[in-house]
Formats: sequence, C-alpha cells, structure tokens
Amino acid sequence: MQSSKIAGVGYYVPKNVYTNNDLSRFMETNDEWIQERTGIKERRFADRLGETTTTIGVEAAKNAIERAGITAQDVDFIIFATLSPDYYFPGCGVLLQREMKMKEIGALDVRNQCSGFLYALSIADQFIKTGMYKNILVVGSEKHSFAMDFETRSRNVSVIFGDGAGAVVLQPTQKEGQGILSTHLHSDGADAEILAMFYPGAAANKWLPEKPGYPEQELGGLFMTTEQLEGGAALPYMDGPAVFKKAVVKFPEVIREALAANNLKAEDIDLLVPHQANLRISQYVQQLLGLSDDKVFNNIQKYGNTTAASVPIALCEAWEAGKIKEDDLVCLAAFGSGFTWASALIRW
Ligand code: UT7
Repeated sequence: MQSSKIAGVGYYVPKNVYTNNDLSRFMETNDEWIQERTGIKERRFADRLGETTTTIGVEAAKNAIERAGITAQDVDFIIFATLSPDYYFPGCGVLLQREMKMKEIGALDVRNQCSGFLYALSIADQFIKTGMYKNILVVGSEKHSFAMDFETRSRNVSVIFGDGAGAVVLQPTQKEGQGILSTHLHSDGADAEILAMFYPGAAANKWLPEKPGYPEQELGGLFMTTEQLEGGAALPYMDGPAVFKKAVVKFPEVIREALAANNLKAEDIDLLVPHQANLRISQYVQQLLGLSDDKVFNNIQKYGNTTAASVPIALCEAWEAGKIKEDDLVCLAAFGSGFTWASALIRW
C-alpha cells in the first residue's frame, strides 16, 4: 500500500502582537507569572472584524498549496480542524472551499481541539493510503480571541491562548519507508467538562440557571439572559492544574506508543514537535524522553497556545528554519480538551 507524505507546509499568524504586559492593562496579571508558569511572552490576536478562523486558515492553506507545487484547483479533499469555527454550523471547511474557489470537493470539519490537527492528519493519511484522494489539504486554524474574556476572572485561560493557522498538503509517495509511518489516536471523555465551552450546545441548558415562564424552560432552545452572559456562561472553562497533570502522562505515553509501533526508540527522533500547550509540559516530556534541546521545537513563547493550529504552525516554522531535512524522523504529539490525545511519526 502506498503511504502519504507532507508535500507542503504553511502557516499564518495575525499581525497584532499582544505581549504579557499588554494583557496586564486589561486584567490582574503580569509578565513574570505568565512566563514562569507557561513560557509565553506574547501571542497574536486576529483583527476583530477583518479576520475569521476561515480567512486566517486560507492564508496558511495558500502557503502550503504553493509549496506543494499544486494549485487550489488540484486539492481533492479538505479537512479543517478548529474549536473556534466562524459559525456554529456550517463548518469552516466549506467556507474555505468557497473562499479559495475550489472545486465541489468534500470538506470535513474536525472538532478535536488541541488534538484536532493530528486527528485530521490521520484521516487524510487513511484516504491517501487507500488511493481515494491525491491532494488533501489539512488545516488547523483558530480565532480564540472572539470568545475570550479579558477580565481577571478568566485570566487563567485568556493569557494562554492565541490566534493563528497552519496547513499541510498530503500526497501519496511510492518511496519505501518515507512519509507518515503511523498515527495514534486516543480519547477519554470522563473529564470532558474540565476544559470546555458549554454554550451554545444541546446540553447547555443544564448548565444555566432556571428561567421560569419561558417556553424554552419546557422545550429547550437557546436562551440566555444578559446576567447569564455577563456571568460568563458562554466562556471557555479550564481547570488548568487538572489538565496539566493528565497532559504530562498522556504526551509521553502516546509518543512511546508511536515509537514502539515502529520499532524505534526516543533517541531515533530527529525532531519532536509537540502541541504548544505550555512550555513546562514540553520541557517535562523532553526530559522524560531524554531528548536534547535541539530535538524539541517550541514556539509557544511567540504565539501562546493556538490549539488545533499549534502543531502545523510549529512544524512549518521548524521546516522553514531548516530543522527538518529529508529522511529525518519527525514526531508530532498533542493532548487537549476531551480529553483527546494523539501522535504521528513521519519519515520526512
Ligand atoms: O492545550 C491543552 C489545554 N491546556 C493546557 O494544557 C493547560 C494546562 N495547565 C496549565 O498550563 C496551568 O495549569 C496554567 C498555566 C493554566 C495555570 O498554572 P498553575 O500553576 O496550574 O496555576 P493555578 O491555576 O493553580 O493558579 C495559581 C494561582 C492562583 O492564585 P491563588 O489561588 O494561588 O491565589 C490563580 O488565581 O495563580 C493565579 N492565577 C494568575 N495569576 C496571575 C491564575 N492565572 C493567573 C494569571 N496571572 N494569568
């Protein structure tokens, strides 16, 4: 069976830079706390009106398509991973298809948060391997800033996340041993509410206070009072320490699983590109696997956590910096809301 290779990588980050000191203008936080706990120095926020998750995804996609040596017309399937879609429905995949004037190809949206890009990559890999498609565009894009609360009550969330997009084009390769060697996907919904945004959603009513006298009380439906909105009912929620504890177990586990599946060892990895959740998490994983600094790529310092976009942005920056060469063994890994976690091993 043929395998799939990454033929082109691209990324885009909005031009608006917000340093930690900039955030301390809006909420009680400071540069020292943020850097010490997360490693983040600054992040990008999209233009409030001019940019959306789709439009920044399009910029990354153009970059990846050009580098793959194809045109938007050659793409035969789209997979778009995001937790911050432009609309509740339809998904960003079809919006990107429209924006890029692509053919009437299939467009799939993936809702796996921080692991979204790796889930999307794994799906694309299966389609290429079976010969169903030849040029699959995989995009991870986020505009977190649209739903972020820049008040002190949300500081544990809002100092971490940033906006951005990354993309790859997957193509078949006949070269023995090249391309995606394997992907490994996992989930455990037991702690689904530990890192979540509940509204809008079909279960949202149960998180909201009673509102007697309204038909929605009997029938359900989307309703929220100004007080509920102002109380933060539609904001992301995260129990940071609980997520941290799980992440430092699952990251190394899924990386070791990938290595074992290919009869490889940690020392065979040329570059580990972890999801940029927290620099402390990446450093812990690095230490556990015994990898030197030059074998782990981190850019959370510049962009914060861009969830589904973080792996392709980091992969692209590493590639542009010449840190990925032909035949290198590249390991991608992610963990996040769901919980979901995943890894991919690639012979470049
Ligand atoms: O992408 C995957 C999803 N996310 C993650 O992987 C995140 C995993 N978790 C983390 O990275 C860390 O838990 C955080 C960086 C989110 C928080 O760090 P922490 O060391 O776990 O802090 P904490 O939440 O336990 O809070 C410690 C203190 C609290 O004050 P008190 O109660 O000790 O007085 C917080 O109120 O720090 C306070 N705090 C802040 N102070 C200044 C929380 N956020 C901030 C802030 N600035 N931004």
